[in-house]
Amino acid sequence: MPFVERVFSGVQPTGNLHLGNYLGAIVNFVKMQETHNCIYCVVDMHAITQGVDVWGGPAELARNTREVTAAFIAAGIDPRKHIVFNQSQVSGHAELAWIFNCVARMGWLGRMTQFKEKAGKDRENASVGLFDYPVLMAADILLYRATHVPVGEDQKQHLELSRDIAQKFNNDFGDSIRAQGANDGLFFPLPEPLITGPATRVMSLRDGTKKMSKSDASDNSRINLTDDADTIAQKIRKAKTDPEPLPSEEKGLEARPEADNLVGIFAALAERSKAEVLREFGGGQFSSFKNALAELCVTKLAPIAGEMKRLVSDPGHIDSILNDGSDRARALAQETMNLSKDIVGFIRRR
Ligand code: TYM
Repeated sequence: MPFVERVFSGVQPTGNLHLGNYLGAIVNFVKMQETHNCIYCVVDMHAITQGVDVWGGPAELARNTREVTAAFIAAGIDPRKHIVFNQSQVSGHAELAWIFNCVARMGWLGRMTQFKEKAGKDRENASVGLFDYPVLMAADILLYRATHVPVGEDQKQHLELSRDIAQKFNNDFGDSIRAQGANDGLFFPLPEPLITGPATRVMSLRDGTKKMSKSDASDNSRINLTDDADTIAQKIRKAKTDPEPLPSEEKGLEARPEADNLVGIFAALAERSKAEVLREFGGGQFSSFKNALAELCVTKLAPIAGEMKRLVSDPGHIDSILNDGSDRARALAQETMNLSKDIVGFIRRR
């Protein structure tokens, strides 16, 4: 691939960061730092695509933006070596999204399952922004010509759309791209989703067929990154299970969504495979497995919760991290925006 490898990913500041966000995304963000230059974005513009009753209004948005930033740092992201910033501070995201709006097709967006789920039955009343959400996502990634995007399983379809947009842009403007000097006619890379680990889709603790989510009415359905040790232990103890003992092999987890989910969570937190976890706990009752899982969750998450608390108590410090990250992101974005404008034929001051 002719592109320098670069990682980009984002998390919405919509409250209640949970174990799914952590294991499906943030843990992998931390790992990618060892091998790549990484850009991690708090996507505040995505956060306002649903009703204000959903995202909570201006004070809540600012609080949540700082909290997600704190979670990134508490989990081990280094904002000096890599870039951590909030999306609305770099205007290129909105500018490139506009160009992509004219590349993406209505039919492509109409197939997005997340839009269908979030809009529900009353589609006429969904915001245009909610429909356009995946186009802004493509702009987020491609503004930095990022090649790799660590995400949870639920974002796979959006990543495919990003690739389609990149490809159509490269095709539509192929001659112009070549005229600008890129003789292979490729301006945007086709970003690759990185969906890895044993917990790419963490399920609700109350219903193993539903995704763990910020918006579930029951707080017992998820473990929040800000939960204290007692709350974590209680939620695990109350988690839904079935009456059978744990199987000794992975195949035995089929058709047992709750068991599969808890074993996956254990494996991801312990950095072991599901098979290894089952070798240790297979044949045993859920009660003893749950005790071990609760202990593991607390060991891994309590320090993060503590560090997040410490960080959010100093909003000035968080804001300075976001400002610095935005400055560095803006410089990279500017380069892509200038070239994109030249490719499209927009006249600009030189
Ligand atoms: P958000 O904030 O909804 O989710 C953030 C990340 O958490 C993952 N995730 C999960 N992983 C496993 N199990 C779950 N139950 C679970 N719930 C959430 C998501 O897959 C995601 O990786 N649209 C993105 C935000 C975004 C973005 C981007 C991501 C905006 N622009 C550009 C990558 C690149 C989202 O879902 O955020």
